[in-house]
Amino acid sequence: MKSTDCVHAGKIFDTSTKGMVTPIYPSTAFDYIDTDILAYPRYFNTPNQKAVVEKLCALEHGGDGLVTSSGMSAITTVLFALLQKGDHAVFEKNLYGGTYHAVVNEMERYGINYSFSDASEDSIRSAIKDNTKLIYFETPSNPLINITDIRMVARVANERGIVTVIDNTFASPINQNPLDMGIDVVIHSGTKYLGGHSDLICGAIISNKALVEKFWNTAIHFGGSINAHTCYLLERSLKTLAIRVEKQTQNAMELSDYLVKNSLIKCVNYPGLTSHSGHEIAKNQMKGYGGMLSFEVDLQADETDRFLKNLKVIHSAMSLGGVETIISSPARTSHAKMTAHQRNEVGISDQLLRLSVGIEDAEDLKKDIKQALGAAIQSA
Ligand SMILES: Cc1ncc(COP(=O)(O)O)c(C=O)c1O
Repeated sequence: MKSTDCVHAGKIFDTSTKGMVTPIYPSTAFDYIDTDILAYPRYFNTPNQKAVVEKLCALEHGGDGLVTSSGMSAITTVLFALLQKGDHAVFEKNLYGGTYHAVVNEMERYGINYSFSDASEDSIRSAIKDNTKLIYFETPSNPLINITDIRMVARVANERGIVTVIDNTFASPINQNPLDMGIDVVIHSGTKYLGGHSDLICGAIISNKALVEKFWNTAIHFGGSINAHTCYLLERSLKTLAIRVEKQTQNAMELSDYLVKNSLIKCVNYPGLTSHSGHEIAKNQMKGYGGMLSFEVDLQADETDRFLKNLKVIHSAMSLGGVETIISSPARTSHAKMTAHQRNEVGISDQLLRLSVGIEDAEDLKKDIKQALGAAIQSA
């Protein structure tokens, strides 16, 4: 089903040429006479926007959605649509750095209060207040690949009528469908797995019709819409989402098994490993454990630099989810704006490296890591 939806859902059949792919409709001006729809790109209702939303809804099992100009635009649209002055929100503390900064820099000046919790039920329950309107979390989380029990969050929130929002970027809809587990809103940085080729930026919000209408009312003011060409590129990328993510998941499992056996690696964070603290929960809520892992190297700072510089197949870069394997140092990239103290509090050490596993041959990736580790310690 997933692969079929990846290929076919939402596709606009070109009746004039009988061509196989959705045509690109670049218009920003549409005739409004004799039609019920006032089409305009910032109204999120042009043919390419609607086509790609339909595919995403099929993949996430949602009733409606919006594609936005970036993941952050999806996140801020949802937060500001759901929260207002005097409200309180709970954020699970293992957040993407950009989301964390949006929360701590923007919420208070709009009169919105928030608390951070950890992933346990007790911690989430004790963070909830009478005016809590939203619980927001990521699983697997960035960059420690922690697992939160999705059904538990949905249950706790439902008891109090609180809306739940999950950033499902790391799992992708191929490995995890939170709406099926009682979550209200799914967000993606489409820049990552959905786009999958490190060449487009977009975001997605998938939910039910009533909530999406609410998001739409805010989104048209914030203006974070995307153009027809990016929609088309996203639609094209989504056709191979299932096979890409399946291969990435398989490679990540192989690499994790390989890394845990290496004496220069202190620990490996991957939910597919039985030693991972969230393994049982992940087994229950994920179809595959995903293409993201992180590990701590047992190296000095200069050795870690040499390791990174000596990698030949794997590249040091920001971002994730592409077909190529990318390594990054969260302390220097996604979480660089946090103070060392804040990073330590959430467990992000300077030796932590995050791997976004691509679709290359796993053997080549292992060989690359082996030779780069060797070069790092030899030149010491
Ligand atoms: C988990 C997660 N959510 C959201 C974002 C933000 O997405 P974008 O960069 O597309 O705005 C990122 C970016 O790295 C991310 O990793």
